[in-house]
This record gives sequence, C-alpha cells and structure tokens, in this order.
Amino acid sequence: MSDWFTVAWSDEGVRMLDQRVLPEREEYLTLETVEAVAQSIESLAVRGAPAIGCTAALGVALAARRSRATDLAALGVELEAARERLARTRPTAVNLFWALGRMAECEAVAREAAGASPKSVAAALLEAALEIVREDEASCRAMGRASLPLVEEGARILTHCNAGALATAGYGTALGVVRAAFEAGRGVRVLADETRPFLQGARLTAWELDRDGIPVTVITDNMAGHLMQQGEVDLVVVGSDRIAANGDVANKIGTYPLAVLAREHGVPFYVAAPLSTVDPDTPDGAAIPIEERGREEVAEFGARPVVPEGVPVRHPAFDVTPARLVTAIITERGIARPPFAEALAAQLAGSPGG
Ligand code: MRU
Repeated sequence: MSDWFTVAWSDEGVRMLDQRVLPEREEYLTLETVEAVAQSIESLAVRGAPAIGCTAALGVALAARRSRATDLAALGVELEAARERLARTRPTAVNLFWALGRMAECEAVAREAAGASPKSVAAALLEAALEIVREDEASCRAMGRASLPLVEEGARILTHCNAGALATAGYGTALGVVRAAFEAGRGVRVLADETRPFLQGARLTAWELDRDGIPVTVITDNMAGHLMQQGEVDLVVVGSDRIAANGDVANKIGTYPLAVLAREHGVPFYVAAPLSTVDPDTPDGAAIPIEERGREEVAEFGARPVVPEGVPVRHPAFDVTPARLVTAIITERGIARPPFAEALAAQLAGSPGG
C-alpha cells in the first residue's frame, strides 16, 4: 500500500498531490471550486491522461455538490458550464472527454429517476465519479497482468514521461507493466527519460518507482539512442493520451523519436493504455489535436532563462507515433497486435486479445 495518492474525493473538495513541486515537496491541494480544478489540470498539478479524466469527473461531482440550484433545470445549466470549463483545459488527452461524457450520461439518467432532485443527482454524480476512479486503477492492474508474457527476467525497460500511479488513479499504465513484472519477481530495471521540458520522467517516474523500491536510472532524452546501440535496452513501454482507431499513438513529445530508434535497433515498442484512451472517433493520428503549451516551460529551466529573450520557441506537448512502429498495445482486455484497427475495435466491443 502506498502512503500517498494522486487524486481523491473529500468532503472539503477534490484532493490531489501537487505534481508541480515533486520531488522537492509532497504537498496536497484541496480544490473547492470547478475553476480551481480546471486550473490544476491546466497547470499540471495533476497530469497524465487517465488522472486528468478522473479529476474532471470529480470536478463535475464537486459542481453538483456545491450547487445551490433548487430545481433540476438550474442544476443542469450549472453542470453544463462545469463540463465546458473542464473540457477547455487540455485538448489531447481523450480520457478527459470520455470522463465528461460519462458524467453527462449519468446526469441524464439520474434526472429521469422517479423523485429526482438536485440532491439525488449530485449523489449519483459523486458515485459515478468514484466509479471512474475505481475502474481506472482496476484497468491498470489488469494491464499489468496482461503484459507479463512480454517482460522477461532481468528486462531493462526504457520509459518516457510519467505513465505511472501519478498519471492514473493508481498503479499506472506503462509503470503498471513495470510494477507487475517487479511484483512477479522478474528483477526488472527501468531507464527513465528525463522528459524535457516538464521533467515528468526525472521528477515523477523516478520518485514513484524509487518509493516502491523498483530500480530506476534517469537519463536525459538524448541518451536513448546511444544506450540502445550499446544493447542496454530490452524493451520500451510508454503510455498514451489518445490512440486513434488505426492504432496511431499520441503521447508526450519525444515518444515518436524513441519509437523510430526502437525500430532501428530491433527493440520492441509497447504502449500501455486503458480503453478509455482509445478514441474510435479519431480515424488516425493526423486528426489528434496536439496541445501547444506556453513559452516559459521551454525557455526557462527552474525559473532561470535558458533561451535569449525575444527568441521564439516551439512547444508542442505531444507527438504521434505511427501504428507501424508499435509492436503491441496493452489494454485492460489484453494485448492488441497489428493490424490495430481490427484488434482495437474487437477490444472496444468486449473481446480480449487481438
Ligand atoms: O503532459 P502530461 O504530463 O499530462 O503528459 C502525460 C503523458 O504523456 C503520459 O504518457 C500519458 O498521459 C499517459 S499517462 C498513463
């Protein structure tokens, strides 16, 4: 049992570990308004696609709990505004829109129930949000179990960004694969890409693996090619913010070059993600919206300028790895292999493997 959590409900509001200040400090935030929850997502206090979805769901439950509306119509207007605000936070992580959609469906059903009132709808929304949180952790554990045949004794696993317990309701997607292998006694070791510019690998992946006693070594992003060339990487596993229907994978900027390197060096490249990350309405990677973040995350390092004033920077926060470079996609329903369009459609329809 970990002695920390990523995001949770409390009677005071939505509670979360502030990921902006890790590993220096372990501080929890209590967010009492939808606006504060939205800003926590925008500012990366909470991040990682599944954790963003869970947080948004709890944000909608918070809006309902705090509402002073005396009738269902007025509550409906407030909840729609809450969902719209939360939907404007980060465009790439489809789990956000998936979770908001589920909350909207839950509201619609709760409103139709006999004797429905603002209070009963709020109670139903809280239960729905907590269910999304529970399901997310259960999916991560299922992914970990499903991935065991892919991870050999002593495997040296390279990962990028943080797709761990900090990016989910618990256990992690890519780091769920690592945790399951570690718990099975496989003696695995992790190479964590630093992940410029927000350093999710150096600050967050290293922190949570170290907390669990899982061996982890941090490298800067430009070291991966050299280490693969030296034969020091057995497999790559990453998470995803959105997987298109054809299997193209959006993930933290720097994932695509890793996949190219992995192909060049014959290293398997795996993606671990719950089915809530698979977007059947996005046909391929070209249709995935890529978030562009602000200048300061690139132009400053620890609040010190590292780019001359006035020189422009670019900051696409995600890239798209074409499906042809992905060896397999691990979901809670099993291991999907190419052709991904068929395998993912089958998993979304409820069958395992593919
Ligand atoms: O900008 P971030 O930190 O939210 O980006 C997170 C990632 O890219 C993760 O790899 C992805 O969301 C999967 S998390 C299980």
